Amino acid sequence: MNYRRTFLAILVYACFSSACTTSHKTEKPEPKNELLFTGSETCKSCHEDIYKKHQLTPHHLTSQLADSVSIKGSFEEGKNLFFYNPELFVTMDKEHGKFVQTLYARNKKIKTRSFDLVFGSGVRGQTYLSWQDSTLFQLPIGYLASVDSWANSPGFSNRPIFNRPITARCLECHSTYFKKIVSEKKQPEHFSKKQFYLGVDCEKCHGPGKQHVNFHQQNTQTKEGKFITSFKNFTRTQQLDFCRSCHGGKLIASKPAFSFKAGENLNDYFTPDSVQVPGKQLDSHGNQFGMLSQSKCFLQSDMTCITCHNVHENEKGMVATFSNRCMSCHREGTKSFCTTKKLSVSMLKQNCIQCHMPEKNSNSIRMLLQGDDVPTPAKMHVHQITVYQDEVVKYINSMPLTKTR
Ligand code: HEC
Ligand code: HEC
Ligand code: HEC
Ligand code: HEC
Ligand code: HEC
Ligand code: HEC
Ligand code: HEC
Repeated sequence: MNYRRTFLAILVYACFSSACTTSHKTEKPEPKNELLFTGSETCKSCHEDIYKKHQLTPHHLTSQLADSVSIKGSFEEGKNLFFYNPELFVTMDKEHGKFVQTLYARNKKIKTRSFDLVFGSGVRGQTYLSWQDSTLFQLPIGYLASVDSWANSPGFSNRPIFNRPITARCLECHSTYFKKIVSEKKQPEHFSKKQFYLGVDCEKCHGPGKQHVNFHQQNTQTKEGKFITSFKNFTRTQQLDFCRSCHGGKLIASKPAFSFKAGENLNDYFTPDSVQVPGKQLDSHGNQFGMLSQSKCFLQSDMTCITCHNVHENEKGMVATFSNRCMSCHREGTKSFCTTKKLSVSMLKQNCIQCHMPEKNSNSIRMLLQGDDVPTPAKMHVHQITVYQDEVVKYINSMPLTKTR
């Protein structure tokens, strides 16, 4: 075990702590809708295409049972260590068929906890959850994708912490449903270890599907979907409110977790945090909705999130696809097309994103690498659509000379 050779990365997901410390003003009994969930496997038989594509989305993968595939960090000897200092470290091992984190101090075993649930698809990073009776705790060591390495869990200072409980609000954004067990003490919260549905899955967006499935299994002639939440007739506000419930930055909950449903008015369930400065929050642990709503595109059209995003598919990095969606409004040959003369039209059409929605440093996702004093931020796409002059220069400079005009 060589301390120097071990890559020490500390992840400071500053916003994680703030995103999950939403207070509940009123506690009403939870809706008993867990009985109406059926799980997305059931949808496969009739919606196979959507089902298959959706399996690959960060939404579907955002919470999973812990196993050798879902955990992105390495258990290989030499790579399965995280040192806080030469005498204090955590190992990641497989013991009796379970993946575990074990804390050592001066080579003495202090405690062992199992990886039970994985949070985060791993696009940027993951944190791991461990059951202690009916409470979930965040394990100290997480995973950071940009360096493909174990890292200190989001929001944790540079020491091993095993007693940070996971709140219902955190589960609400990263899963379809967890049944909360009502207990005397409010903190930490208790959850059923059996009644939960992982991933931001079909039924998170379309509502519990049991009735829909039963109906269509018995009425195979019916060509119109029954007993299911459809977005077809939603108003713009209904569409936006839904995505905003998770992509709208810090919201103060006024009703119990898991009670807000697609189609409902967000303001009946949450109030935006007034301290928040949307222009400075790029991520969802920041605020994509807030960023977009400051753009001319948004203010002068009826755009919603699904104008650009097909939520059933993982379209990450598909720049040409997204650019085509820009051009559904900014058509070539019309006045509203890009006005810059710095590149040919054919070059412009390939990538509207880099100059107008560039990747910028995230405020909430930052990491401290060994030897650094300042944390290195991860990158997210800016949802405030405008002209970013510095990115324009960067993009043009990155082009082979022959292709520019
Ligand atoms: C037994 C077959 C069957 C199963 C299983 C099934 N559906 Fe459907 N669903 C249909 C039919 C038929 C329609 C109507 C035609 C269409 O839109 O594809 C439909 C339509 C829909 C619609 C569109 C509604 C609209 O009008 O916009 C949604 C959303 C939907 N289903 C979601 C689900 C989800 C989620 C599941 C799994 C929980 C599921 N379905 C399982 C048969 C099924
Ligand atoms: C229940 C909370 C929730 C709702 C509602 C929700 N999302 Fe998400 N979304 C997430 C989470 C959590 C992630 C991060 C997944 C990950 O990487 O672990 C995510 C990721 C995404 C991503 C892709 C992230 C990437 O890294 O490529 C897009 C795009 C997205 N959401 C769009 C939408 C749109 C559009 C809507 C509304 C139709 C929506 N989301 C509704 C929670 C939600
Ligand atoms: C993040 C939210 C979200 C998730 C998760 C989700 N959907 Fe959808 N779904 C939508 C939205 C929004 C629309 C409307 C799309 C539009 O109008 O462009 C839609 C439309 C549909 C439709 C009808 C129109 C179409 O696109 O064919 C069906 C059927 C459907 N979804 C089934 C499913 C199934 C099955 C799953 C799981 C495998 C699923 N959805 C997962 C948000 C979601
Ligand atoms: C308001 C909804 C919300 C809450 C609350 C929330 N998250 Fe997230 N989380 C998201 C979204 C959305 C993303 C996708 C990145 C982004 O847009 O900022 C994300 C990203 C992540 C990621 C990185 C996934 C990846 O690969 O990009 C992890 C890990 C994560 N969250 C864990 C947690 C944990 C643990 C908690 C509770 C302590 C929590 N989140 C609370 C919505 C939320
Ligand atoms: C639903 C229609 C629609 C879509 C889709 C759309 N826009 Fe716009 N956009 C507009 C409107 C309307 C305006 C304001 C009038 C104008 O400048 O053309 C605008 C303005 C702009 C501006 C000027 C912003 C400023 O601050 O001066 C830029 C740049 C822009 N859009 C780029 C894009 C890019 C890039 C995309 C795709 C990622 C996109 N738009 C998608 C409707 C749209
Ligand atoms: C004008 C088009 C457009 C609209 C409208 C739009 N997005 Fe995006 N979004 C993009 C593009 C382009 C990307 C970068 C995709 C990639 O990964 O290559 C992106 C990426 C994301 C990501 C992935 C994380 C990141 O920043 O890289 C999330 C989450 C997301 N969008 C959520 C939303 C939500 C929620 C809304 C509505 C409030 C929304 N988007 C509206 C174009 C749009
Ligand atoms: C090389 C970077 C670059 C690319 C690629 C690019 N643009 Fe632009 N765009 C600019 C610049 C710079 C301006 C400001 C005009 C100027 O002064 O040259 C602009 C202006 C615009 C405007 C008008 C803003 C106004 O004043 O109303 C729109 C709309 C726009 N772009 C949309 C697009 C769309 C859509 C695409 C993809 C087809 C695209 N842009 C591709 C750099 C770019």
